[in-house]
Amino acid sequence: MLIKLGNFKLKVPEGSEGSIHKGEVIGILGPNGIGKTTFVRVLAGQVKPIEGVIYSYSEITISYKPQYVSTHYAKFSNYKVIELLYAMSPSGIPEWFKKEIIVKLGVDRIYERPIGELSGGELQKVAIVSCLLKEAKLYLLDEPSAYLDVEERLAIAKAIKNVVEMREAAAFVVEHDLMLQDYLAHSLMVFRGTPGVEGNAGAPVNLRKGINTFLKDVGVTFRRDARTKRPRVNKEGSYLDRLQKSIGEYYYVET
Ligand SMILES: Nc1ncnc2c1ncn2[C@@H]1O[C@H](COP(=O)(O)OP(=O)(O)O)[C@@H](O)[C@H]1O
Ligand SMILES: [Mg+2]
Repeated sequence: MLIKLGNFKLKVPEGSEGSIHKGEVIGILGPNGIGKTTFVRVLAGQVKPIEGVIYSYSEITISYKPQYVSTHYAKFSNYKVIELLYAMSPSGIPEWFKKEIIVKLGVDRIYERPIGELSGGELQKVAIVSCLLKEAKLYLLDEPSAYLDVEERLAIAKAIKNVVEMREAAAFVVEHDLMLQDYLAHSLMVFRGTPGVEGNAGAPVNLRKGINTFLKDVGVTFRRDARTKRPRVNKEGSYLDRLQKSIGEYYYVET
């Protein structure tokens, strides 16, 4: 596909790997202004490509959490959280969803609060819950971890995984947090190009390859903290930074 928005161009090449399967989460990585949100909006049917098509548009239901939640939910500011959730699922909220998603994210504790009075993190969680509550075959989540702390990020990653499995659906998740992508995604699309000018969407590749491609572009390597096992950025030019760059392992390295 070719997409044009103002002076920005996004190219999405065709390819045999350009497919998504039941139960699969595809992570999307890339610098700002490279067209990740644009791509997701194309999938959501909000932006039309000037060349190319997406097959099976009409046959699958899609649920979309946009990047800018406060703008998106401004029109619901007088609604209570619970009212918004019932609007997403008029037939009621399934028990498993309440137990596994809503309670684990703590959204049941803010049911009675008006949308317009939520903090950034609370609104983000409500937006994710309402996106996942809608029964769909394809979930699109644009930067779900924004405004959330480490524990909340892990909880939303579990929630997304859980819903994709329960509903035999698939998901695209735009996310800068590499730890979260590592935990959540089965494969990665890496967007490259010139921010604000031209973006190229890469075909889905495995996590190792995707994270390496992205980190090579930005010139950053990670080591594992021996105690917590969490990834930590290597100092540029340090022994490990040089070693990892020389072997092309920017993220997954045993130390
Ligand atoms: N509606 C629009 N009209 C004109 N330019 C746009 C529009 N939407 C996005 N852009 C431009 O397209 C580029 C890619 O934006 P976006 O898809 O939001 O990037 P990302 O999500 O990767 O940060 C940016 O330069 C942005 O300014
Ligand atoms: Mg974006």
